[in-house]
Amino acid sequence: MGRLQGKIAVVTGSASGIGRGTAVRLAAEGAIVIGGDLNTAGGEETAALCRAHGGAASFMTTDVTREADVAGLIGHAVEQYGGLDILFNNACFSGAIGPLETTPVEDWDKSLAIGLRSVFLGIKYAIGPMRARGGGAIISTASTAAKRGIRGLPAYCAAKSGVVNLTQSAAIELAEDGIRVNCICPGDILTPMRASPLPKAELEAQLAGLQPIQRPGRPEDIAGAVVFLASEDAGFVTGIALDVDGGALTGLWSYGGSSQHSHLRTSGFLGPSFQRKAASDLPAAAAV
Ligand code: NAI
Repeated sequence: MGRLQGKIAVVTGSASGIGRGTAVRLAAEGAIVIGGDLNTAGGEETAALCRAHGGAASFMTTDVTREADVAGLIGHAVEQYGGLDILFNNACFSGAIGPLETTPVEDWDKSLAIGLRSVFLGIKYAIGPMRARGGGAIISTASTAAKRGIRGLPAYCAAKSGVVNLTQSAAIELAEDGIRVNCICPGDILTPMRASPLPKAELEAQLAGLQPIQRPGRPEDIAGAVVFLASEDAGFVTGIALDVDGGALTGLWSYGGSSQHSHLRTSGFLGPSFQRKAASDLPAAAAV
């Protein structure tokens, strides 16, 4: 018996990447999965993958920036399967890319709509059905981009930061209804969103080098965190932004371009130290 046997779960962005990986894992854990995505062919394919695990699954073409679509997706889960226990607000893309000065206002608004308004809509329409069942779990995909700025991606970072804060406000408001609200901050995950002109092996090597755990993140890494946050094992967990990033946000682990300690030789940390045996240990350039 799966950890989420018989639970009814809505997953947005289910046609691809993290959404697909999570939909399939939720199905493997016994949940009924209702996917929503703009990409109808991919969404239907994911639903078929979910059904291959033996449970019911369906898909509805959905634009998560549209109120009527989100209400319709959640309404479908309630009418077809009798309620809603889990909502994974996950659909998004990078949105506006470029300097703030030249970002068109419409592109900014669209970025915030796909990254943040979508999460607000999901939470808004999940509350009633979850309250009716005595509780539920809402999980949204934020990003490590929520916790630091990224040159060229200000709208995406702002939207994801908003997801973290909205998660906290929603967690406070909905605790009395038994609804837990959390989000996940993925690091660099190898999905179609990270499409690159680089050959696959080169892209993988590049992503592997971005965090202390030296491999690319996978959709399955996020799916595991979603299952935890959706399950009773997380019954006392609400309002958190869980980093699933291979340690990328731990600190300046690759300062100077190496995962070893050589950065200390070039960045001014070779002054007095109880580990330094002799003055000759100091590289000439560091002897100020
Ligand atoms: P992906 O591109 O593989 O999947 C995103 C899905 O969202 C696609 O199926 C797309 O059709 C759908 N989508 C886009 N706009 C939509 C809309 N308006 N309505 C409905 N569906 C829509 O990307 P990935 O990597 O799986 O991304 C999933 C989530 O993870 C996103 O929220 C993304 O911001 C987040 N994330 C991804 C990271 C990565 O490195 N891949 C890192 C951190 C966060």
